[in-house]
Amino acid sequence: MSSNLTWHDTSVVKADYRKKNNHSSGVIWLTGLSGSGKSTIANIVNQKLHQKGLQTYVLDGDNVRHGLNKDLGFGEKDRQENIRRIGEVAKLFADSGTIVLASFISPFRSDRDQIRESLEDNEFIEVYVNCPLKECEQRDPKGIYKKVRNGEIPSFTGIDSPYEEPVNSELVVHTDQESEEASADQIIQLLKQKSWI
Ligand code: ADX
Repeated sequence: MSSNLTWHDTSVVKADYRKKNNHSSGVIWLTGLSGSGKSTIANIVNQKLHQKGLQTYVLDGDNVRHGLNKDLGFGEKDRQENIRRIGEVAKLFADSGTIVLASFISPFRSDRDQIRESLEDNEFIEVYVNCPLKECEQRDPKGIYKKVRNGEIPSFTGIDSPYEEPVNSELVVHTDQESEEASADQIIQLLKQKSWI
């Protein structure tokens, strides 16, 4: 990093944005296997909060990889860089008073923990969207597991690339046991408990 840089403080700060929005802000981080239901749940939560007039936004792996991170692949280093950049973007959104729903496989525990540490207390909620690989593969909403089994996609999470389960996430939802709607409601309940909304 260049030493010839200065951080500019702005006169409108996070507390002002929050006051204007009349709610707190932070990052809801959904992690889990491909096909576990992360994006669907993020979308439901976003829709419900948006309808209430809250300031929210969804960041999603498949979308961000079309733009900001289109130069990144799925090797270990690239996945780390993917999550690092998203973490920075999510932090900016939180700073702007927004409740961000970040939906990424984010297979490595240390990458997720780094984002938690870069935020203040009560600004990061990790939600483990837990679903057995077998079930994800059966759902195969994008037909991607089929391609993996045909040998077309190497280093696929859960198959031949690791997924490190969260050990201290704020919430675990089991999408093989409850509807995505019910999981979304659990997240909204938690936001109330934590006085985000
Ligand atoms: S992460 O591992 O770097 O966090 P991210 O959430 O951005 O992944 O992107 C995951 C999406 O990319 C998956 O839902 C899937 O559609 C697609 N994808 C393509 N190749 C792979 C792969 N090798 N492993 C996992 N997902 C992949």
